[in-house]
Amino acid sequence: MHIIRTVLAAATALAMPSCGGGDVIKIGLIAPLTGDVKTFGEGVRNAVMMAFEELNAAGGINGRQVQIIASDDKNDPMEASNAGSKLIDMDAVLAIIGSVSSKCSVPLADKCQVAGIPMITPTSTNPKVTVGDDGKRKDFVFRACFIDPFQGTVAAKFARDSLKVGTAAVMYDVGNDYSKGLAEFFRDAFEGLGGRVVAFESYAKDDVDFSALLTKVKLQDPDVVFLPDYYNKVGLIAKQARQAGLRSVLLGGDGWDSPEMVRIAGEDIHGGFFTNHYSPEDPRPEVQEWVEKYETRYGQRPDALATLGHDAALLMIEALKTATELKPKEIRDAMARIADFPCVSGKVTFDEWGNPIKSAVVLKYSARGQEYVATVEP
Ligand code: PHE
Repeated sequence: MHIIRTVLAAATALAMPSCGGGDVIKIGLIAPLTGDVKTFGEGVRNAVMMAFEELNAAGGINGRQVQIIASDDKNDPMEASNAGSKLIDMDAVLAIIGSVSSKCSVPLADKCQVAGIPMITPTSTNPKVTVGDDGKRKDFVFRACFIDPFQGTVAAKFARDSLKVGTAAVMYDVGNDYSKGLAEFFRDAFEGLGGRVVAFESYAKDDVDFSALLTKVKLQDPDVVFLPDYYNKVGLIAKQARQAGLRSVLLGGDGWDSPEMVRIAGEDIHGGFFTNHYSPEDPRPEVQEWVEKYETRYGQRPDALATLGHDAALLMIEALKTATELKPKEIRDAMARIADFPCVSGKVTFDEWGNPIKSAVVLKYSARGQEYVATVEP
């Protein structure tokens, strides 16, 4: 049932009539709607569509309806860049929400910066999304989530202080900005806290057989294995690790968050810990209202992708509402002015790099699914 409603919702948003108050306001959305991490794109799209439908039903922006033009990047950087060009040059969108994975958001951000189109990624945590290789801020680019130097530190601290472990192995995808970045941030933080990294091993994006790497890792007998990758890869690695007789505690980041994780890894992911952006078990009323609203509509609890998609949509709406004029530069300026804005995943004020400073949670996979373990403040 929820699938049909999602499709209808998307169709409605695309066919939005311009009722009263002038032309529609066009906003682009880029996410992996198909491909290897498609649950990431689905969560973001569901939440963004819902937020803008509500806005439109309540009269839009000064009586103007907002049309979301969604584009699929298939989690491929080239597709993300092309989708950005199409939205900017052909559709003439005023701003873009997206993309989801850092490796797609980095080239998309470069494109938006050159074109002068404001962009907010709901979920991309790699620092390079808002900073160019020259070290300069891409000042048209924002994000709704924390960044990986923080996330890696939270994971390392949790391993050292809560799990009380001494040694860690790290396995990461060398072709994935997020995976490689988070691997390095974790390693540096873990060593900084007096831990020892006994293996630091990379694999390639299309690898599916990790037995050779796992044999190497097992020889070092690490207390924890840190796996900073997405659920599709982590699920496979977890299965193969247990088959290989590796008993170390598995640890990871937000990329673990997917309803598909337990389907891929089964029991082999039980006992694994990961850092994330929010917990649906958080008793704060704004979290509980959101979880209930999303569940009623889509038939499942919102994961972090859906929640950050929702938060990014609210931030975009706030920028549209407070912009002095509905033009890209003015929308960018309005976005930059946002302060203490109440999002479900926490209050948002952007720092000078376009990053909000927010807390993280640690969750654990168990037979119950995901369990809340701890909240870590910045
Ligand atoms: N942080 C990931 C990235 O930058 C994307 C992600 C966010 C995945 C939240 C899952 C949950 O690539």
